[in-house]
Parts: sequence; structure tokens; C-alpha cells
Amino acid sequence: MRAVTYTQFGGTEVLRISDVADPVAGRGELVARVRAASMNPLDWKIRAGTMNLLAGKRFPKGTGFDFSGVVESCGPEVVGLKPGDEIFGQLSPFALGSGTFAEKCIARTTQVVLKPAALSFAEAAAAPCAGMSALQSLRHCQIGQGSRVLLIGASGGLGLFAIPMAKRLGAQVTAVCSGQGIDLVRRLGADVVIDRQKANPLALGQEYDAVLDLAAVSTFFACRHLLAPRGIYLNTMPGAGTLWSQCWTALFSARKARVLMLKPSARALEELGAMMAIGEVRPRVGRIFPLDVDSVREMHRLSQDGHVLGKLVLELPAN
Ligand SMILES: NC(=O)c1ccc[n+]([C@@H]2O[C@H](COP(=O)([O-])OP(=O)(O)OC[C@H]3O[C@@H](n4cnc5c(N)ncnc54)[C@H](OP(=O)(O)O)[C@@H]3O)[C@@H](O)[C@H]2O)c1
Repeated sequence: MRAVTYTQFGGTEVLRISDVADPVAGRGELVARVRAASMNPLDWKIRAGTMNLLAGKRFPKGTGFDFSGVVESCGPEVVGLKPGDEIFGQLSPFALGSGTFAEKCIARTTQVVLKPAALSFAEAAAAPCAGMSALQSLRHCQIGQGSRVLLIGASGGLGLFAIPMAKRLGAQVTAVCSGQGIDLVRRLGADVVIDRQKANPLALGQEYDAVLDLAAVSTFFACRHLLAPRGIYLNTMPGAGTLWSQCWTALFSARKARVLMLKPSARALEELGAMMAIGEVRPRVGRIFPLDVDSVREMHRLSQDGHVLGKLVLELPAN
């Protein structure tokens, strides 16, 4: 089968389309024919070598971990799924293997659930990482009825899920974004929109119960003045600074700092799928690309530039 691989860390030029052996399902695993796979910032971070403590230095590596597709075969001890089922899910980003930018992939049954029929394969592939991350970020910040929420990076992959999810919980959402994102976040239900190219959201003297820096461009200490007395700040970038802020505020501050460390699960996927099935949350597909080397390099380049509007999705034909 064809798969995107690379044999060294580097720029987008290291990405290749290779012929690799068809995957074979082991115990508790299934092989899926990939119909769509979406790009996440972690994909280019791993390729660039900035995550090699987690990703390791063994090659070849594949790219992509979000996908939707059709179950082709099941290994021993697979229950609840069968060949022909349409599924979506998230593989481990750090596992050595062919990734989801490939004609087929291997998933454990805990990593996938049935795709809601109302969603296209492209929409379903756009959802797992960004949707589960938005869900868990809002939970970390204890968002509920009447919560005043500031979302930085509101028009990014996570933000476009977080806005309708926060509105569904009854929150008042202030969205920070720029350019074409402004109209989109308004349409998704943001109550207030701040164009970050015209105003500095950190200088606007408002108070929030939660500041979610989805774009990971600030710090707890830079945002502390925006937080209500028991407010929560969340950053999506696990690192020495953000983890230290989390520990420090756990001990010494009523205002808390949290760091998102996504724990994907079939349960979270089910929950996300249920919201998408009834249209409460709708994945936003920005652009669709075919499986060829120029397109895949373009997807990595656009994501790395950091201003994507709607998910970048690789789409593959049925056969
Ligand atoms: N820790 C975890 O478990 C976890 C899980 C998922 C994602 N993440 C991380 O979360 C981050 C966001 O992911 P994503 O999928 O939403 O990324 P994305 O789709 O690339 O969106 C990034 C957003 O950041 C905004 N942005 C860029 N520069 C900015 C700046 N200087 N100030 C304010 N906003 C800025 C962009 O908006 P403009 O168009 O306005 O520039 C864009 O909407 C990534 O770093 C990703 O790796 C972490």
C-alpha cells in the first residue's frame, strides 16, 4: 500500500510517498481502509524533530494520527466492530508505524468508534484530536452555565470545536482571532470577537472565569490579571514553564493554571460523535487534499505556518 513516510527529521522535503507492506491486525486490533485523515500541529512538530523525546529517533516514521475509514479486517478478540463498519478515531501520534496518511492503518478497538452517518468521511477525520482536546480543555476549566470564557486561538482546530461546545454549556464566549476567522467564529456563536490584529486581548480590562489559550501564545502570569478570583487559565503546550505554573498555582494561588495533555479514549470519541450526530457541533473542513507528495508537504507547511482556518484533510478514494 502507499503511505507517507520519512526517514529523518527535517523540513517538509523529508516527506515521501512509499510502498510499504499491508498492515496485519493483531490481537484487539483492526485494519481500516483510510478514507480521510486530518492534519494536526503535532504532525509537523514530530516531523521537525521537536518532539523526539516522545516520538523517539527510530525511522521510518509515518505521519497523521486522526482518520476515518472502513474496517477491512479484524484480528482476534475484536468485539463490537466488523468488516464494512465506517469508523473514525485517533491513533497514538508517537507509535512507530505508517500513520494515517496511508491507504490503510492499524487501530486498536479502543482508538475508534462508529462514524455518525450524518458526517462525511472528511468531516469525521477532522474531529478526533481537535474535538477531544476542546472537550477536555473546557472540562479542565470547569466551564458551565454563565461562565465567562476567553478563547485565544478561537479560529484554530481546537477553537472551532470549543466555541459551540462552550455555548452548549451555557458559557459567554469571547473569541480572539484574526482575518477571515472573525466572521466564522461569530457564526459559530461567539458573543464577543476580538480581532487580535487591532486590539491586544490581554490589555482589555475584562474579567473571565476561564482563559483558554488554545494557541499557546501566552502564559498564566501574563493572563493572571484577566482571571476572576478563582479563575482558571489553560495552555495547550505541555512544557517546563506551563507545568511549573500548574504546580505553583496548585500550591500558592486561588487562580489556577492548567496544561492540556489530551487523553484520547473511545468514551470521549463517543461523546464527540453524539454531539456531531445531532449537529450540536460540526467539524469545519478547510481544504481537502489528495494523497500525493506535493499535497502532503503543502498540508504540513500550512499547518506549520499556524494560521489555518478549518481542518486540512487528506481524502482517499473508496478503492
Ligand atoms: N497538549 C495537548 O494534548 C494538545 C492537544 C491538541 C492540540 N495541542 C496544541 O494546541 C495548539 C492549537 O492546536 P490547533 O489544532 O487549534 O492549531 P491550529 O489549527 O494551527 O490553530 C492555531 C491558531 O492559533 C492562532 N494564532 C497563531 N498565532 C497567534 C498569535 N500570535 N496570537 C493568537 N493566536 C494565534 C491562529 O489564528 P490566526 O489565524 O488568528 O493566526 C490559529 O487559529 C497546537 O500547538 C497543538 O499542538 C495540544
